[in-house]
Amino acid sequence: MNIEKVAVIGTGQMGPGIAAMIALADCDVTLIGEKIEWADDGVNKARATMDWLLQNDLTTRDAVARAQPCVRGTTDLDAGVGDVQLVVEAVSENLALKRELFQRLDRLTARDVILATNTSGLSVTAIGERAQQRDRIATTHFWNPPHLVPLVEVVMSPDTSEQTAQTLLEFLRRIGKQPVLVRKDLPGQLANRILQGMIREATNLVQEGVASPEDVDSAIKNGLGIRLPVWGVLEHIDAVGLDMCLTIQNSVLPALNNEPRAVQLFADKVKRGDLGVKSGRGFYDWNTKSIDDLKKLRDDFIVHAIRFQNRHARGKPGVDAINRSNTKTSRSIG
Ligand SMILES: NC(=O)c1ccc[n+]([C@@H]2O[C@H](COP(=O)([O-])OP(=O)(O)OC[C@H]3O[C@@H](n4cnc5c(N)ncnc54)[C@H](O)[C@@H]3O)[C@@H](O)[C@H]2O)c1
Repeated sequence: MNIEKVAVIGTGQMGPGIAAMIALADCDVTLIGEKIEWADDGVNKARATMDWLLQNDLTTRDAVARAQPCVRGTTDLDAGVGDVQLVVEAVSENLALKRELFQRLDRLTARDVILATNTSGLSVTAIGERAQQRDRIATTHFWNPPHLVPLVEVVMSPDTSEQTAQTLLEFLRRIGKQPVLVRKDLPGQLANRILQGMIREATNLVQEGVASPEDVDSAIKNGLGIRLPVWGVLEHIDAVGLDMCLTIQNSVLPALNNEPRAVQLFADKVKRGDLGVKSGRGFYDWNTKSIDDLKKLRDDFIVHAIRFQNRHARGKPGVDAINRSNTKTSRSIG
């Protein structure tokens, strides 16, 4: 299917960035907000995101000039989804709200329109359960910030058709993303399952007094983490040898925390009101540490990494180049 017109619903943290990426790939985007001033604000944020990508050499002046007029805002859901080929829902993470919205979208849109949810934690099966045509419903989980992080997880419910999944993967590659297909609708989708396991052991090491929060994060950032963008975990196993990894797994896994809940220290901190940045203290003291500096460092690093990917793909800066970096050079054997 040729996707040329897309509706993005929700103008919070995620909607405008998703809209910007889609418009930069020469699609018309209708950004649907709850109030007209929020829709207008979302359009301005999408356009500002494109300017930011241009300033950081991640797109071209021509692409931005073409894309900025292609994002329009409205509060009218019926008209906004009336002539699109794809709807991306990015409203608040609330199952009842999303379920009702998908039931409505199912009635409002033509049979071949794909309906995608950006949910980070809810089941796409539950979100789509009141719709009649569930084969066209899937998750497209953009990571935050959506204009920078390449990953989008496409999650299938048991009813999602292969054609819907493949059309989404192709479209996401076209807009410069690196999508992965998740064939089962499980809590945590794919990458968050891995992250949650890491969080459990990282907090466990702090709880057990093995290392400070600074040292745990330093070990991740400067050790295992620094190679991860180009050196996957399964590639790592193959590189060092499965026999050696098997021995390490069998000696280390019994010593890891394997409780089916967060470690006690985590729960104790929440009980005390130590909620992190928003309360000033979590694992760190945010009265002396700046989250804005850290976010800037994160974004600068990702920009650097994307430029590296572009150079590696021998492309020019911009969506097309990011796109080309998706070309697979090797295949796994499963
Ligand atoms: N923020 C993140 O880090 C992140 C990352 C990945 C995925 N997500 C997912 O993306 C979705 C949106 O998250 P967010 O962080 O942008 O949320 P947010 O709270 O920043 O924004 C939610 C938006 O939904 C709008 N909204 C609520 N009901 C609506 C309706 N009926 N019609 C139109 N708009 C409506 C609100 O006005 C608001 O603009 C959620 O499902 C979330 O789980 C968030």
